[in-house]
Amino acid sequence: MLELTDADVTGLLGKVDLVDVVREVFQAHADDRTVLPEESCLRWTNDQGESCRSLNMPGLVEIDGRRIAGTKIINASLGNPDRGLPRAGGIVLLFDITTARPVCSMDAARISAGRTAAVSVLAAELLWARPARSIGLIGAGALAEAHLDLALRRWPSVREVHLYDQVPDRALRLAERLGDTYRTVALDVVASAERAVRDAELVIPVTTTTTGYVRADWIAPGTVTVNVSLDDLLPEAFTAADQVIVDDWSLVAADTTRLLGRMHRSGDVLPPPRHRTPTGAGRPAPAVEVAAELCDLISGAATGRRSAEDRIVVNPFGMSLHDVAVAGRLFHDHYAHRATSTTSTSTTSTTSTTS
Ligand SMILES: NC(=O)c1ccc[n+]([C@@H]2O[C@H](COP(=O)([O-])OP(=O)(O)OC[C@H]3O[C@@H](n4cnc5c(N)ncnc54)[C@H](O)[C@@H]3O)[C@@H](O)[C@H]2O)c1
Repeated sequence: MLELTDADVTGLLGKVDLVDVVREVFQAHADDRTVLPEESCLRWTNDQGESCRSLNMPGLVEIDGRRIAGTKIINASLGNPDRGLPRAGGIVLLFDITTARPVCSMDAARISAGRTAAVSVLAAELLWARPARSIGLIGAGALAEAHLDLALRRWPSVREVHLYDQVPDRALRLAERLGDTYRTVALDVVASAERAVRDAELVIPVTTTTTGYVRADWIAPGTVTVNVSLDDLLPEAFTAADQVIVDDWSLVAADTTRLLGRMHRSGDVLPPPRHRTPTGAGRPAPAVEVAAELCDLISGAATGRRSAEDRIVVNPFGMSLHDVAVAGRLFHDHYAHRATSTTSTSTTSTTSTTS
């Protein structure tokens, strides 16, 4: 089995347009050319009392007439940054489509961060009222860096970034690193999450919190909030939103730990139209109505923003399909000639668990 290190993956990722890849995956998902099982999560507390977890995220996607199957295993320990280690790390495994044997293992950290940033960037471009001039980021770790690096390379419109981290030094170091590259952008380290949110047209929480704190009245009309770390918003920020968009409703609904899944279990969330079932008459309307999945915006099944003043919240749970597709693209472009039938071409449609 071929093994690609973090350095190998970093070199190859520079040659791929990740936003294009995630867009193709959403189109495949809309067309039922995907298999997306529920992910499984193993959680434990380590001998230092820190939370640890291992996520296993399998998926299959057909893009460019080629089926790619694999899984991402991504582990994290909250204490790692204090040990000088990245909080999260893992592998993406690619499977031979004919024999099902694993054929390639790639370091997952940059694929995972890159595809997450690409989904946020694509969602912003689909939903913003105009190209963002100001971005507010809460959290200044690996995901914040991946988001800012992609957004600032792609969007010349951005003039200001407001960056907050509960460990101020992390925000300062990230601002310094990016400031050397993006000299025309004011990278402002602010003293509170509220300040990062209030002055931004695009808000991206990328923290590790499990307790909400972002209030509805911090979020200005017209703002797109991409809720990457999933637990930063208070429920009122969802209920006050003019539109809530998810990446994949089945994943959100199956999850018992994150805010939107919990609100769904309490009967507070109406699924996106494709996933609605008739409910009993006379039931109170749920407080949050999910307007669409991102694949509906790509396919044209949903329209997205209705007014320049809409406050839109995107809740990207995170789909294995993107990791597998990015890894498949790297493998196919650079190494597939070494293997036999790893990503054989196919015209056969696969079934999606989400439809
Ligand atoms: N939705 C998705 O698809 C997806 C994909 C990958 C990662 N994530 C999530 O993104 C988050 C960030 O990942 P990362 O690898 O950058 O983590 P990281 O540990 O590298 O960085 C997180 C940063 O957030 C800061 N922080 C924690 N709580 C905070 C708070 N309440 N206010 C301000 N700052 C706070 C920490 O000090 C740290 O600097 C994680 O929660 C991860 O699970 C989501």
